[in-house]
Amino acid sequence: MVSTSIFPDIQKHIPVMGDMNLKSPIAYKATRAMASVVNATQMALAEAYIHGLEVPDSVFRAAIDTSLPVLFKHCPGLLAPYEWVLQETDRIAESSRELMQVQYDRPQAMLNQMLGDWKVIYPKYSTGFWENGATNLEESQMHMLDQVIERLGIEDGDNILDFGCGWGCVPNYILSKFPNVRFTGLNLSHEQCEYMRRKMQDPDSYLSSGRFTLHEGDLNEAHFDEKFDKILSIGVFCHVGNLTNAFQKLASFLKADGKVLIHIITVRMPNHMSSGFTHKYIFPHGRYWNHDAIPNHNCDLKTVQRWYMNGINYHKTLTDWLQRFDASQELVKSLDYGMDYAKFRRIWRFYLLLLGTIFATCDGEYNGNGQYLMVHA
Ligand SMILES: C[S@@+](CC[C@H](N)C(=O)[O-])C[C@H]1O[C@@H](n2cnc3c(N)ncnc32)[C@H](O)[C@@H]1O
Repeated sequence: MVSTSIFPDIQKHIPVMGDMNLKSPIAYKATRAMASVVNATQMALAEAYIHGLEVPDSVFRAAIDTSLPVLFKHCPGLLAPYEWVLQETDRIAESSRELMQVQYDRPQAMLNQMLGDWKVIYPKYSTGFWENGATNLEESQMHMLDQVIERLGIEDGDNILDFGCGWGCVPNYILSKFPNVRFTGLNLSHEQCEYMRRKMQDPDSYLSSGRFTLHEGDLNEAHFDEKFDKILSIGVFCHVGNLTNAFQKLASFLKADGKVLIHIITVRMPNHMSSGFTHKYIFPHGRYWNHDAIPNHNCDLKTVQRWYMNGINYHKTLTDWLQRFDASQELVKSLDYGMDYAKFRRIWRFYLLLLGTIFATCDGEYNGNGQYLMVHA
């Protein structure tokens, strides 16, 4: 990681290099201007690819492998294309409805093919865990959830909230392991909620056990009449722009002795990160929080334990998703994407290739996942 302690005084006055939080006003402004130039260049390249520029995957990957380590290690401020990436936003999650259109309510047949849909593991839009010998995506997702169960200390009889529950994979898997656990899932995606409603009618699904309650709604406005023993949120906080207000809300849902496990993509550099491409085409207002951001917000919730999951895990997961996406073209090319399919396909390939490569740079030590166990402060 970039050292902020050796030359803090010098670093303060040098634009581009080092921690944005330490910059003098002039160096800060100069770095912001440079970040805009970097972003405009990246956007021009991304849009050239989207509009048909032929670039072999190997060349694409090599370009990222060469440039990203320099930015991670020396110029983290250039990876924040917009001012809002560096600060907390007004709302807990900005652009929620737009996010659903651009990303989560896309044709489900396409997403389900890409993510995988099995008997117990439903489409799961977060990293698998490959370090325990998983030989395929389904197994890697089971191993990831086994680790969540252990780290959150889930016990039979717990009443659990899944904040941003996707297709219900996490509840379904955990309900399959614990006969007396109850789950509540919150999700704004109408299409994903429709998937869960179908499973709630399916006798083969644990979501039909009567122990699963679904709330379709925005986490900005979330409200529950009961309090929970455990809260988990997997892969959702990249859509949260205000940790202070989000933790205040989660704390209000949690029993006095309850526990929270947040699992998110993090970057081990001083500043948060985003990209103009993902903001426009993939995750509006999405960001990767710096790895220390959550423990630094010990306000209504405090972090009592934290883990870093190496980025190679997400690299393998994304590589699998890309292969599955490529393999499903015949099936998914006639679905309605609101644009020409060839364009959609290139946007989506750019996304899967870009993220899949970034997670593997620097041996996965800079961009991976953070897990944070939290209790009432
Ligand atoms: C990356 S997916 C992760 C889903 C699930 N936790 C998993 O691991 O498969 C993020 C989830 O958060 C939901 N989400 C994003 N923004 C939301 C919001 N403002 N309110 C409610 N749900 C939201 C999305 O619809 C999606 O289901």
